Amino acid sequence: MGKIISITNQKGGVGKTTTSVNLAAGLAYLNKKVLMIDIDPQANATQGIGVDRMQIKGTSYDIIVGDEEVKNVVLCTSVPRLSIVPASADLATADLELSELKTGRELRLKEKLARVKDDYDFIIIDCPPSLGLLNRNALAASDSVLIPVQCEYYALEGLTQLLSTIKFIQDSFNPDLSIEGVLLTMLDQRTNLGIEVSQEVRKYFRDKVYKTFIPRNIKLSEAPSEGMCIYDYDRTSEGAKSYANLSKEVIVRNGGK
Ligand SMILES: Nc1ncnc2c1ncn2[C@@H]1O[C@H](COP(=O)(O)OP(=O)(O)O)[C@@H](O)[C@H]1O
Ligand SMILES: [Mg+2]
Repeated sequence: MGKIISITNQKGGVGKTTTSVNLAAGLAYLNKKVLMIDIDPQANATQGIGVDRMQIKGTSYDIIVGDEEVKNVVLCTSVPRLSIVPASADLATADLELSELKTGRELRLKEKLARVKDDYDFIIIDCPPSLGLLNRNALAASDSVLIPVQCEYYALEGLTQLLSTIKFIQDSFNPDLSIEGVLLTMLDQRTNLGIEVSQEVRKYFRDKVYKTFIPRNIKLSEAPSEGMCIYDYDRTSEGAKSYANLSKEVIVRNGGK
């Protein structure tokens, strides 16, 4: 049975998409069968992994808002064992459209994923920077949440709100939803600020924080413009090494699954 992990934080620019793409690809390179689902209207993960627009048969919008099935829209990527459900700009109105439904508006993605869950080892959902209905659909459908935290000022700000959304989903739809882990991203270890923030996050989330942290690394920001995961773009970069370590840590936390 596949494990469904949402990569979420309502702040933009904290490394959700970078983590989704490179964790999904990292797990696939460790021989896992992985599905990445892009539910951000910006479609950065879709572009970042190099999906050819001409190949898109349908998107996560058609699954969540429409009646489409995952298996009809899933695409292969250039990474072996990694497939994707692409996103499109029409997701921008999804929250509004979902809010008009009388029942089950939080459970659309969960119902669709239940039918393909067994086909994968991991399903990684790249969430939009909000706590709206798209995000709630992701959390309701997930086994766990991975929270990237950018090592900058105000890193912890907003996390209380995220934790209360997680609590709401647990209480209302998904009692088994757990915190998969907290990932320190864009850490600059040469600065006091980077070190202080990482200590603060570790103090707050304790052993939920991964031993692996992601350093600020230019290669990680260049790779998406070539439509490549970091391992294909520059396998020897610090970014590639750290995301490969994270992928191993995720597998270990899941009992070597
Ligand atoms: N570790 C990193 N080092 C350098 N740049 C990064 C790193 N992680 C992300 N970035 C860049 O920062 C920006 C925001 O990251 P992104 O993953 O898109 O965040 P989010 O999905 O949370 O909005 C992007 O331009 C991305 O390429
Ligand atoms: Mg993103």
